[in-house]
This record gives sequence, structure tokens and C-alpha cells, in this order.
Amino acid sequence: MADETWSDLVAVADLHANWVTRVDLGGRAFAVYDAPSGIYVSLALCNHGGADLCDGYFEGHLIECPLHQGAFDVRDGRPLDTPATRPMKTFPARVENGMVQIALPARRQRQ
Ligand code: FES
Repeated sequence: MADETWSDLVAVADLHANWVTRVDLGGRAFAVYDAPSGIYVSLALCNHGGADLCDGYFEGHLIECPLHQGAFDVRDGRPLDTPATRPMKTFPARVENGMVQIALPARRQRQ
């Protein structure tokens, strides 16, 4: 039994090229990064103070938060600069049929 399911998030054609695109899905906000080595996805809100990372500065694999300039590596979420000290939540991502998909934990079935 699979532990995760792939869900469509956004069309590749709708991404801001070489930048960050915010996508709201299922009551959650995601940041989709069009990076040199591929597409990466994290939660959009900074885990330090809740700022929208999609309003931050993006270069290479680094996203810098617009509020306090904490920084994260979009590939694995690790913090790169204070005051960010905890990894941001990232999601496995892939492109299928022109859609960015992310892996979300499978919902548990009630028995
Ligand atoms: S809210 Fe992002 S570093 Fe403070």
C-alpha cells in the first residue's frame, strides 16, 4: 500500500519562469520554485514568522524570506541563514503531462 499519493498542483505553463509561484490548494498555500535543476515545492508560509515566501527573493536554490531575510534551500528545506533555524516543509515534486504534481501523505482509511 502506498504511503503517499501524487496530486496535481499547477500547470508548468502557469509558473513564473525562474521564479516562485504561489498555489493555493486544499486550504494550504504552496510555493513552487522553478530552479535551475528542477521544480521544487514547499509550504508558502515561512516557519519563522508566517511571511509569504512567494514575496521573497529567489536565486539559484535559495529563497530569502521577505520579512526578516531568513533563507532556505528549496531542494531540501534546510535553513541557510538566520533567523530561520528550522527546515521548511518541502514536498516531493514531479512533472507529469505538463502538470506539477506533489506527493502528499495518503489519507488513512477508517476501519
Ligand atoms: S518570517 Fe521569515 S524569517 Fe521571519
